[in-house]
Amino acid sequence: MTVPPSSSIPSPSQSSSEILPQSKKLQGREFYNSIGQPKTIVAPMVDQSELAWRILSRRYGAELCYTPMFHAKLFVTSEKYRQNMWDFTKDGNFENDRPLIVQFCANDPDYLLQASKIIENNCDAIDLNLGCPQGIAKKGKYGAFLMDDWDLIYKLIKNLHDNLKIPVTAKIRIYDDWEKSLEYAKMVLKAGAQFITIHGRTRDMKGQQTGLANWKILKYLRDNLPKDQVFFANGNILYPIDLKRCMNETLCDAVMSAEGNLYNPGVFWTKNNDINKQFPRVDKLLREYFEIVKSIDTLASRHSMKAHFFKIMHEFLNIHKELRPIIGQTSVHSSYDDWEKIVIQVEEIINKIYENPNIKEIDIIEDNNKIEEWGGSYKIIPYWRCQPYFRKVDGEKQNTRLLKIAGENDLVVTSDEAKQKKLKRELEDDSNDNVVSKKQAIPI
Ligand SMILES: Cc1cc2nc3c(=O)[nH]c(=O)nc-3n(C[C@H](O)[C@H](O)[C@H](O)COP(=O)(O)O)c2cc1C
Repeated sequence: MTVPPSSSIPSPSQSSSEILPQSKKLQGREFYNSIGQPKTIVAPMVDQSELAWRILSRRYGAELCYTPMFHAKLFVTSEKYRQNMWDFTKDGNFENDRPLIVQFCANDPDYLLQASKIIENNCDAIDLNLGCPQGIAKKGKYGAFLMDDWDLIYKLIKNLHDNLKIPVTAKIRIYDDWEKSLEYAKMVLKAGAQFITIHGRTRDMKGQQTGLANWKILKYLRDNLPKDQVFFANGNILYPIDLKRCMNETLCDAVMSAEGNLYNPGVFWTKNNDINKQFPRVDKLLREYFEIVKSIDTLASRHSMKAHFFKIMHEFLNIHKELRPIIGQTSVHSSYDDWEKIVIQVEEIINKIYENPNIKEIDIIEDNNKIEEWGGSYKIIPYWRCQPYFRKVDGEKQNTRLLKIAGENDLVVTSDEAKQKKLKRELEDDSNDNVVSKKQAIPI
């Protein structure tokens, strides 16, 4: 399908007049069943949940993906914006990009409907972003800042529900007040949202104040919304094992992950305990991702590469800092040959690690078996494997801070970092076994 030129898109006043018969489209659980009852979901992520990343994530167990948030008005009015965000020949294709939910932010029901109409044949549902807490959302009055205007939210959702061929869904944040959160969720559903995703954090929990998502309120909401409501939980997923914990504790239908997935797409792998699927080698994952980007070659995927490289390699780059400026110098204009050089460099470093005779003993995932405040336990993962990132809170990494709050002296992150450095030293010592070290060679 080709994108209609801007001139052929109706103006806001022309839209939303005809009400489509609701019997024609699947709703609620019926719709959920029709897309295969997904249990693992790649969250909408600006500049990050684009086609290449979705293809990669599905290979590692993601069963449903959301696009990054698109700005509805710009999607309607700017052809350039649309082309940067979406490739009508590739995004949403049935071969490797379904089921797919496209997310928009909006504050005008007519623009939202027009944007959704442009894309309704290329996805399974349209999601309304009600969670973005950033300053830009405050300025533009969208995302979580619509929480102050329930009438508008109702209109935005209802207009899609009445006029789109496909279902509408919504992703919301919570209020501190549980009852208000419940009333809010009920209003969103009454307006016509068929799935509800609840991110267990308030609008103020962002940046350094991100903190832990609240699964207890998710369970409360789940218990008090209609039994058959399709309900997705979002927040606090670090490891594959956390998915089951989240499902058991919140009774959700599926779990959505953003940061967990970005730093380790293996977070969704639950079929078995294959270490190469759950905590893939950085070099292998980087190669797989890079080959996907080259094969689809969309503007959005090229644009997102640098951030993905940094995130996939986050822990690895703490040890191999020399690669950071090399990746830092790349841009959307860098050639695939430039990127290839970086991938090869990473492959060479990690292949060398695997030449170590003791590799089997050190290439393991260690569980500290200590249940933490967030309900799970941290793992120590070799730095050459993908692993979660712990956001800094007030300048400290989150799990360090949590342990401090809990009055613990045994700071896992510190010991984890020390352990990674020790692993590197051991590897270097072993690889130097048969070589005269510089120090020995210098006569004193
Ligand atoms: C890089 C990034 C981009 C995000 N972009 C969006 C977005 O476009 N739309 C949205 O609803 N939420 C967005 N979020 C929020 C996530 O979808 C998710 O709700 C939040 O990160 C909590 O999930 P997590 O604990 O698994 O990270 C973004 C998060 C990250 C880390």
